[in-house]
Amino acid sequence: MSESLMDRELRILILEDTATDAELSEHELRKAGVYFTSRRVETLAAFKQALNDFKPDIILSDYNLPDCTGLEALEVVQRDHPEVPVVMVTGVLSDIAAVELIHAGAKDYVLKDRLARLAPAVQRALAMEQSARARAAAELELRKSHDDLEARVRQRTAEWTIANAALKLEKEEQGKLIKELAAAHSQMLQSEMMASLGQLAAGVAHEISDPVGFVASNLGTLGKCIHGLLRVLEAYESHEGELSPESRAAIAGIRQQVDLDSTRSDADNLLSESMAGLQRVKRIVLDLNDFSHVKSQDRQMADLERGLDSTLNIVWNELKDKAEIVKEYAGIPKIKCLLAQLNQVFMHLLINAGQAIDEHGRITIRTGETDTEVWVEIEDTGRGILPEHMKRIFDPFFTTRPAGAGTGLGLSMSNDIVREHGGRIEVKSEFGRGSVFRVVLPKEARPE
Ligand SMILES: Nc1ncnc2c1ncn2[C@@H]1O[C@H](COP(=O)(O)OP(=O)(O)O)[C@@H](O)[C@H]1O
Ligand SMILES: [Mg+2]
Repeated sequence: MSESLMDRELRILILEDTATDAELSEHELRKAGVYFTSRRVETLAAFKQALNDFKPDIILSDYNLPDCTGLEALEVVQRDHPEVPVVMVTGVLSDIAAVELIHAGAKDYVLKDRLARLAPAVQRALAMEQSARARAAAELELRKSHDDLEARVRQRTAEWTIANAALKLEKEEQGKLIKELAAAHSQMLQSEMMASLGQLAAGVAHEISDPVGFVASNLGTLGKCIHGLLRVLEAYESHEGELSPESRAAIAGIRQQVDLDSTRSDADNLLSESMAGLQRVKRIVLDLNDFSHVKSQDRQMADLERGLDSTLNIVWNELKDKAEIVKEYAGIPKIKCLLAQLNQVFMHLLINAGQAIDEHGRITIRTGETDTEVWVEIEDTGRGILPEHMKRIFDPFFTTRPAGAGTGLGLSMSNDIVREHGGRIEVKSEFGRGSVFRVVLPKEARPE
């Protein structure tokens, strides 16, 4: 405690209309060793005045005064200077009045015929006041540090919120990066896969084209041989009449055995059918080559309709039982492109169309052009696309197929390829009715 009120000169304001009573009080206090100066007032007005200019440390107040009661004076103090303790010094006092005074804020009361109690009462009142002040100061201090703490907590919370937001942002960023990475990775895998598939196809095509070549040429030669033999046979037949009846009978037996007439007509059929079969094998080899196009990594002028046909041959097996294929080609001009890649796009669209058809349906392949663009359209009569799926179908990994059945990469890759060509894919779909995917490409390739 900084300074004890009782160690320095006290300022005592005495509200007392009887001067001798006041003197008696002062006498008592001095006797007890209290060091003080005092001022005595008699009226409420003078009392109020003294409160302000005398600035007492303590007040001794009588109860019965000429223009007020001690209670009223007490109320003034409590209202304007609650820090100044008041001790009532009175004549007789009823118990009720005493309780009332203590309730109103008096620190103590001393009866005038018991003045020996005055000094201890004053000291106690001052001590009480001092500890009340100390407590108030401590409370203030406490409140301040509490406020400080609260402010710090608030600041920390704010910092945390900001840090949290930053963290969340970072996490989102990371999520995006991971997704991009996954997409890039799968695209790389896919294009590696397609490249090796292309190489494989090209290898197989090469391997097959050799034997097909010599079988075709041998077949041609064989055909000539047979025709030669038949001509010789005809020559012999024209001279049959010159033979002996025995020889003629022997030959007729053999002729009957081998059924020469059907052999003669079969030989031609067999030869032309085999030739047709070989032509088909040759076409497949060509298509494989077209499809893989491993040789050309540069853009070349290419015929999209031919690309569609060779792609259709490749996926024919998957579609033939599902759908009737209708081609409505407009004879669009060649464009500069990577046909192998566009073939992959057509392949994905055709396979998707086939997969969209549950029982049996129709797939229409259309082409067309405007002044600046060409387009290829693949329409199916399948189950269509739900409106809520529409904006996600081009997302990598988006698939509605059962787990393991679809990668969800087909459209995303196709979209990338078409965009690389400066084009776009447009989709129209009616759920339950079917879908149309249209690949639109500029006639003039944009600069690479
Ligand atoms: N022709 C179509 N008809 C109906 N839905 C389609 C069609 N083409 C694509 N989709 C929808 O788009 C999704 C994504 O297709 P895609 O990227 O090729 O991946 P995947 O075929 O592996 O699922 C499919 O799962 C399907 O829901
Ligand atoms: Mg697909």
